[in-house]
Amino acid sequence: MDQLIIVLDFGGQYKELIARRVRECGVSSVIWPGDTAADKIKQTRPIGLILTGGPDSVYMPGAPKCDSGLFTLGIPILGICYGLHLTAYALGGTVAQCAAGEYGRTEMTLDASCPLFDGMDSRQVGLMSHTDQVTALPAGFVAAGSTRSCQNAVIMDRARAIYGVQFHPEVENTPNGTAMIRNFLYKVCNAAGGYDIGEYEARVIDEIRAQVGEERVLLGLSGGVDSSVCAALLAKAVPGKVYCIFVDHGFMRKNEGDEIGDAFPWRRKLRLIHVSAGARFLKLLKGVEDPETKRKRIGAEFVRVFEDEAKRLGDIKFLAQGTIYPDVVESGANKSATIKSHHNVGGLPDSMAFKELVEPLRGLFKDEVRMLGRRLGLPKALVERQPFPGPGLAVRIIGEVTSEKLGILREADSIFREEVRQMRDRPDQYFAVLTDTRSVGVMGDFRTYGYTIALRAVKTTDFMTCEYAHIPHKVLKHTVARIVGEVPGVTRVVYDITGKPPATIEWE
Ligand code: XMP
Repeated sequence: MDQLIIVLDFGGQYKELIARRVRECGVSSVIWPGDTAADKIKQTRPIGLILTGGPDSVYMPGAPKCDSGLFTLGIPILGICYGLHLTAYALGGTVAQCAAGEYGRTEMTLDASCPLFDGMDSRQVGLMSHTDQVTALPAGFVAAGSTRSCQNAVIMDRARAIYGVQFHPEVENTPNGTAMIRNFLYKVCNAAGGYDIGEYEARVIDEIRAQVGEERVLLGLSGGVDSSVCAALLAKAVPGKVYCIFVDHGFMRKNEGDEIGDAFPWRRKLRLIHVSAGARFLKLLKGVEDPETKRKRIGAEFVRVFEDEAKRLGDIKFLAQGTIYPDVVESGANKSATIKSHHNVGGLPDSMAFKELVEPLRGLFKDEVRMLGRRLGLPKALVERQPFPGPGLAVRIIGEVTSEKLGILREADSIFREEVRQMRDRPDQYFAVLTDTRSVGVMGDFRTYGYTIALRAVKTTDFMTCEYAHIPHKVLKHTVARIVGEVPGVTRVVYDITGKPPATIEWE
């Protein structure tokens, strides 16, 4: 088997990010439950273990524990935050609540001779988020890093290759965090590197086959990157068994509904079903202003359409979706707070006629999905496509969705995208929003009263955070002139320069 890092999960919000950083450093990783038996881990022969953070205090009753046999397997271990506490506690050290917790970017003094910090300055910044700390070290351990209020911010036992850090090396707020993880992999676990997305592909194809067996699968295809990559994977894993259903809910961008079938490269290999359901969806949104209600209604109706098709095709039990990791986090399915119900996740109704969901991209980030798409041979234009919300323009129209508003937004959005496409250094995502604000304008000698269009363009790699894009004023000016000149019903256009956080990319 290829070299593997097992990430043991104790409920921390960054577990996927840890697994992703390991992959980024060229080593395969999987996430397993924190209480996995040491014997099972031994049989898998990973080159290292990473114990994640978590919200609990190790000394409280019911706090998640690991099998203490892990520490005698001779496999290198890195404990992060709660994982550090667990390591210290299990090996006879003590952990207690500190007088003052540490939250945010914190100055640290590190022992530069510790292999984790090889090649680094002893002054580093790390993201801290804790109220507990290690107050007495277990036998054999020494402190290899501290902050003003935390003596044991890093602990190590070189002989047993067991390390623990109080900060989070996996997040961008720890500037040298990825380098520290790389050091753990290459200097402590003796990784050989060489992992690429092909390994993920092979593993996930095996998993799809094991899950689906001889059954057929219905895939919700939107024409975006995620569902297209999902289709390609399914076509490889269970050829001939995949039905792709494209539901045109009437909230697509200009010409998009018609183009979907043409742009899709496996038309001949997969069965593509095109359902036009615009009127049905628009009726559902009559009088609805709340964006979450829009998402839930559209999500539920999608599944009803899928169920109808599945019945028509003769009892299909599996529904596949291109859900990716950021969708899972933001929909609150990962124990974090719900930000919005991403169409693939929180938008699904509680009861469905399908037996199981197939979501092979659930552990990946957007740039990794694109990498996989390239590997699977998808055309460049498709792989680099901007994300587009499942509920489409319905969530880019603030307030009630009507066919008049849809018409206005479609035109304005098409103009903006046309103009930005001509730029050399293009933003990662750009689109128009129809706000619910109407205001007085003047055209010729006449008073007008129309909608305000907001333009949004952002720079981002993971779509979980972003900065606004610096679009040249010339492009903005030209876009505004075209929108107010060519789209009746618009009197005003604004450009949004808010980042995420505090805003989100979409405008709901
Ligand atoms: P927000 O607005 O949460 O969006 O900052 C983050 C990214 O996700 C896209 N997005 C979606 N993608 N289904 C998707 O596949 C959805 O329901 C959905 N809603 C938002 C959004 O366009 C941005 O790129």
